[in-house]
Amino acid sequence: MAGQGHQPASDESLRSHLRAATLAAHDLLDRAMQAASGWRTREDYARFLELQHAARAPLEDWIDAHAPEDLRPPRQTRLIAHDLAALGKAPPAPAHLFSLGEAGTGHALGVAWVLAGSALGNRSIARQVRRIGGGAWPMVFLGDAAMLGFWQALRARIEQPTPPGEAEGATDAAIAVFAHFLAVAEQAEAPETAL
Ligand code: HEM
Repeated sequence: MAGQGHQPASDESLRSHLRAATLAAHDLLDRAMQAASGWRTREDYARFLELQHAARAPLEDWIDAHAPEDLRPPRQTRLIAHDLAALGKAPPAPAHLFSLGEAGTGHALGVAWVLAGSALGNRSIARQVRRIGGGAWPMVFLGDAAMLGFWQALRARIEQPTPPGEAEGATDAAIAVFAHFLAVAEQAEAPETAL
């Protein structure tokens, strides 16, 4: 549970442990992203995509360097770049490096859970964007079926208890990924700094 260290109870699934440990961080991030961009206008939506691209590019590099084949979520920056191009924008330069120090047990699992889990949130954002944009805004990223497919495959692995070392590493990594996204969102929120 959040606030009680990173060890799950012995009968707790990894998924519910990760959700509890990052609940507050997710809330904070949701609010920071709404403040930094939101998606109420076409301009807001372009900023939302820029933020997503800036945050995900270094994470995809980390995955390429450290994650085993079965824990590599599909890359999404090229989908975001596609949507940005359709809005007449170039992808931003990556704003922050992402590092976990020496890659350890469970790290790749934690990173994969955050990126794949975010596709659930994207599904609900997609419904709003479709409505607000009248179906005219590009939504290749928000509608990415490959990430939802990866998520379904990952569920079998995380919806059961996991060895303590792996759960601890996954939790540390998940917390670090949320902090990374939050740093990018907060930088985007500061009016004088571009992404
Ligand atoms: C922009 C604002 C965001 C909103 C409005 C949002 C919304 C949501 C919603 C509604 C869910 C639950 C979906 C369901 O259970 O069907 C969810 C889950 C989740 N989101 Fe977000 N999200 C946002 C941003 C993010 C970002 C940027 C990340 C990744 C860094 C993220 C990671 C996750 C994860 C890991 C889950 C839980 C997966 C699980 O249930 O195991 N979210 N989000």
